Amino acid sequence: MKEIIELQKQMRDLLPKKRYVHTLGVSYTSSCLAMRYGADPVKAQIAGLLHDCAKYLTEKELLQEGKRLGLSMTKEERRSPQLLHGRVGAWYAKERYGIEEEEILSAICYHTTGKPNMSLLEQIVFVADYMEPGRKMIFGLEEIRKETFLDLDRTTFLVLSNTIAYLRECEMEIEPRSIEALDYYKKKGEGRWNS
Ligand SMILES: [Fe+2]
Ligand SMILES: [Fe+2]
Repeated sequence: MKEIIELQKQMRDLLPKKRYVHTLGVSYTSSCLAMRYGADPVKAQIAGLLHDCAKYLTEKELLQEGKRLGLSMTKEERRSPQLLHGRVGAWYAKERYGIEEEEILSAICYHTTGKPNMSLLEQIVFVADYMEPGRKMIFGLEEIRKETFLDLDRTTFLVLSNTIAYLRECEMEIEPRSIEALDYYKKKGEGRWNS
């Protein structure tokens, strides 16, 4: 497995300072959550470090890379190419940063949209991206931070529902995969947090 220190250096050189600080936040928050829920903390740390490695491509570049990599794109992704930065980032993690573990690559791939029935590592990086310490304090974040260490499925549901509500409010594109994910975790919570 790639040396963490080497990847950290590469991300520090690649990303603007603020994004690099966020990246470190997602990385160590993911490894803490991995310890809490029984995933591999080193894999979580690496997925966190690389999750935004394609974030700074322009919309045009993301579409070009999507094409080059043969990704089938939804109309939402074509209209709002930023939605693609997780999928393109997973390819970059493999091509440029030598990550072979599928588990890590899929956690990077789905961190932007989430999806139904996520793996433990996918879920960890998805919620860590939302609640790492550097995130601007927004309404409900404190509760989500506490909840993350108590119930990962409920947190996933809350993060999806807040993110979708925010995108709706801003009239931004919502990837259908996120809606499917919200439905999935809502159903999963029936009788627990949705009763
Ligand atoms: Fe991201
Ligand atoms: Fe991020």
